Amino acid sequence: MNHIATLIPGDGIGPEVTRPAQQIIKAAGVEIEWESYIAGAEALERQGKTVSDDLLDSIRRNKVALKGPLTTPVGEGFSSANVELRKSLDLYANLRPVKSLPGVRSRYENIDLIVIRENTEDLYSGIEHVVVPGVVESLKIITERASTKIAKFAFELARTEKRKKVAIVHKANIMKLSDGLFLSAARAVGKRYPDVETGDVIVDNACMQLVINPHQYDVLLLENLYGDIISDLAAGLVGGLGLVPGANIGDECAIFEAVHGSAPDIKGQNKANPTAMILATIMMMKYLGEAAAAERIYAALVRVFTERKVFTRDLGGSATTKEFTEAILKEIEAG
Ligand code: NAI
Repeated sequence: MNHIATLIPGDGIGPEVTRPAQQIIKAAGVEIEWESYIAGAEALERQGKTVSDDLLDSIRRNKVALKGPLTTPVGEGFSSANVELRKSLDLYANLRPVKSLPGVRSRYENIDLIVIRENTEDLYSGIEHVVVPGVVESLKIITERASTKIAKFAFELARTEKRKKVAIVHKANIMKLSDGLFLSAARAVGKRYPDVETGDVIVDNACMQLVINPHQYDVLLLENLYGDIISDLAAGLVGGLGLVPGANIGDECAIFEAVHGSAPDIKGQNKANPTAMILATIMMMKYLGEAAAAERIYAALVRVFTERKVFTRDLGGSATTKEFTEAILKEIEAG
């Protein structure tokens, strides 16, 4: 079956990791007609907006997009195009599977966590202002509606994926109203899923527990900011940011991407590890109903990792992005 999908190559290493992803999808036998768009700084300069209406229309029409990372300036400048995309398209769920790959040297083996992050509110509402010089107020927005929606997503996913436990991560001891609301809404949803064990843990303790004994967790359900931080921590448990994919999912459409950013320190050097983006395409294939292609790509990836011959530099190897991609393409053809 032929598909049409939106592509945002992104900034920094974005084009270097989305190109392999496109080649791999094609090699796995799935024909996609790509509608390519710029976003972020380049779009702001050329079109006056970080996310154009044409881009949003394309994603709404196609229902699916593959996105490279987008740079957001720190402490100044324009606000995040990622946040804009997620809010404009109501992509309320950010799903990040964190799974060990064979052959990768990391602190733990057999990690298989799912991080589910609320994607539309919390401190990411971007509502902040200077009260008086030297004093800034930043609003944290938590609603019962969004908390309930993301909790339902988490428990439904736990049920379909045959997961045993959902841990609600919060700081309701301090933010009694906002995190308290998230926690009570999530607990209320959990009661409707007696087949899934519901637990909760304070976010600072969750960080320590994840580092000491990550296997005690299964599905983690978090607000936006905690989800952002914990997913990088969890990526560190399996070997780093080059290995973890993410999906931004709404009721109407979805954007697939890597958890990592635009990595300006290695931009244009043919050093980026495209694995996270390749894993994102696997999630995208499943979303498009192309389960066989998803399995082919994953099997090829696992074979390359198991052989331990072709690793990119972040994993202690010397392969370039292109050499690693060639190895996967060869395995897909052979497989
Ligand atoms: P980063 O994830 O870009 O880089 C952190 C470190 O990990 C760097 O040393 C980088 O070289 C390395 N790294 C990341 N991805 C890699 C890969 N595929 N292969 C090998 N090494 C990799 O995080 P940083 O530096 O904090 O952010 C850079 C920019 O990216 C910022 O403007 C930030 O806002 C943006 N960003 C965008 C995201 C998105 O579009 N979804 C997500 C996270 C950050």
